[in-house]
Amino acid sequence: MEEMTFKYQHLTFTKQDKNEPREYELLLLADPSKDLVDQYLEQSDTFIARQNEETLGIVILLPLTEEIIEIKNIAVKPEFQGQGIGSYLIENAIKVAALKKYKKILIGTANSSIGQLYLYQKLGFEISEIRKNFFTDNYAEPIYENGVQAKHMLILAKQL
Ligand code: ACO
Repeated sequence: MEEMTFKYQHLTFTKQDKNEPREYELLLLADPSKDLVDQYLEQSDTFIARQNEETLGIVILLPLTEEIIEIKNIAVKPEFQGQGIGSYLIENAIKVAALKKYKKILIGTANSSIGQLYLYQKLGFEISEIRKNFFTDNYAEPIYENGVQAKHMLILAKQL
């Protein structure tokens, strides 16, 4: 894929070269299974938000079909969360998907991920599907957030 760099204030959004080291610290914040992360990274593109050469966040885009692409992983360094960088990453991922002529972009999150569900809906995604027991079936350890067990994956979709 051609180089794509978007700029906003002091942030740049750039596609990572396949031979650059993977940002596991960030990737595992969004998805605790390194095996699953390694599986989807093979077929995905990684985009990085940087400020003065420092990586602040990442977003991973995985094409599913010729028309549908999914945000498989999005994460912002904890000390930089809540400042709009997550929104910036999603907005730019949507731009990339639209430029590449995808018709629909998906993002999945757990039933327990209340903040993420709020954020994705605010950015125009709508709940479209539930993958029942996705987290209990695919993750060795139980995951709890906000005192609620992550059991099902909610898929949200946005038409492009
Ligand atoms: N709880 C409550 N509200 C939240 C949360 C949360 N966990 N996360 C974001 N929000 C809200 C913010 O308050 C903000 O609302 P506002 O605009 O009304 O003030 C809005 O969502 C946008 O927040 P941003 O600042 O743009 O988002 P941020 O830079 O914090 O990035 C992200 C959001 C990526 C979810 C970040 O919190 C993060 O890295 N979390 C850990 C990893 C993670 O959970 N990733 C998503 C997993 S699902 C997947 O990867 C497909």
